[in-house]
Amino acid sequence: VTAAPLRIAVLGAGTVGGQVVRGLVEHAGAAASDEGRPLELTGIAVRDVEGARARGLPSHLLTDAPAHLVADPDTDVIVELMGGDEPARTLVGAALQAGKAVVTANKHLLAHHGAALEAISRASGAPLRFEASVGGGIPVLSPLAGDLAANRISAVRGIVNGTTNYILSAMAAGDGTYEAVLRDAQERGYAEADPSGDVEGRDAINKLVVLARLAFDAWLDPDTIADRPASVRGQGGPGITGVTALDLEGARALGLTLRLVAVASRGDGANPSRTIRAAVMPIAVPSDGGLGGTGGVRNRIEVTGEPVGTVGFDGPGAGGEATSSAVLGDLLALARGAGSTWAGRPVAADSRSSTTTAADPGGASARWFAFLPGVRAGHVVDDLAEAAADTGTGVAIRTGWLPLDQLRSRIVDAAPATLDAQIYAIDD
Ligand code: NAP
Ligand code: HSE
Repeated sequence: VTAAPLRIAVLGAGTVGGQVVRGLVEHAGAAASDEGRPLELTGIAVRDVEGARARGLPSHLLTDAPAHLVADPDTDVIVELMGGDEPARTLVGAALQAGKAVVTANKHLLAHHGAALEAISRASGAPLRFEASVGGGIPVLSPLAGDLAANRISAVRGIVNGTTNYILSAMAAGDGTYEAVLRDAQERGYAEADPSGDVEGRDAINKLVVLARLAFDAWLDPDTIADRPASVRGQGGPGITGVTALDLEGARALGLTLRLVAVASRGDGANPSRTIRAAVMPIAVPSDGGLGGTGGVRNRIEVTGEPVGTVGFDGPGAGGEATSSAVLGDLLALARGAGSTWAGRPVAADSRSSTTTAADPGGASARWFAFLPGVRAGHVVDDLAEAAADTGTGVAIRTGWLPLDQLRSRIVDAAPATLDAQIYAIDD
């Protein structure tokens, strides 16, 4: 007896959705699981139906009414690839409420409404799967929730945004200006529809919230997560917006490079299991290390737990083809009868109604890297710097363990009054 097909409606057929549709149409036979139900594409929602038709999407499946596909009793699974807040939030909520499984790549949706969607999914029994929401094509969420379930996770950290990693790598290699490289990342389909979320770190924060849900069984509030490094006179810019080509040149002179790193770890306060420290900011790492060696659109996520130690997940972090692999994998999992991505884990606490907190893990004391433009070697921080390099346009310094305030006041005392520069924690 042939199993009844799993009838799939795809909402959104852009960079990712277009590749998912292609996978379902062109490889329907190959994508169907031996043990599970065959996959059948039954509808595709877009805003611009004519445009989608012109791009070769199957005409008879196209509609500009996603709510109709959600309400259709002949649809078993909704694949949400529109992105953003509304109408995705209402459509996904309605699908789960109606008992339909949902697959999504929408990390904004999960980070901002994950607790509510989890509650709906648990109440109705409809699975919600979201492997593609973190790390593009890298399988990391299912292994974190499943294969690593026996561990007490102490930290997750890594590079989780392909666009910014592409920009930082290209700028460090001297391959173009910030603006030119960002344009290139957009053309390659790596950036969000509004790329300010990538470069200001909000996309990485959203992904950190999703990772923390599976690592620590809590939904953090994305608005409480630290998003920028310190500077000599205050705070730097959010995400990578304050990173300069001179910072990258100075880092290179000291064997370092800069990476936008997301980290969440269990706190060590009075109630460590309920305190999670979380931040997304550029840090300095050795150029040839795990994070420094992760270039271009690649992502790398490291999970540290007991008893496993540290496990790294590495691969293509953005782009339509790579991300479609994760979406199609979730569909095949549903066809085999799998539940939600969090299946088997405890119900999550909502940080907004519990004692879980998010805070800057950089702390006041660390090893620091800074590039001080217009300053000459031997001038400012000789006794604080473990290493310094004069690049001709300024001096790059690397300190040993030091309170941030001590470094700041020394630079302020000795440097020109107009000097400001971002200060990056060094992590190797
Ligand atoms: P995209 O290229 O902008 O595509 C969005 C699609 O959704 C378009 O087909 C658009 O229709 C459709 N759409 C948007 N609003 C709609 C509405 N109200 N009604 C009907 N259709 C609507 O976006 P994307 O890059 O594929 O990203 C999709 C999702 O995947 C986002 O949540 C994103 O964060 C996530 N994601 C993206 C990547 C990546 O590398 N791009 C990787 C991982 C996860 P029109 O074409 O007619 O405008
Ligand atoms: N804009 C995202 C990125 C897409 O650059 O990582 C993948 O989630």
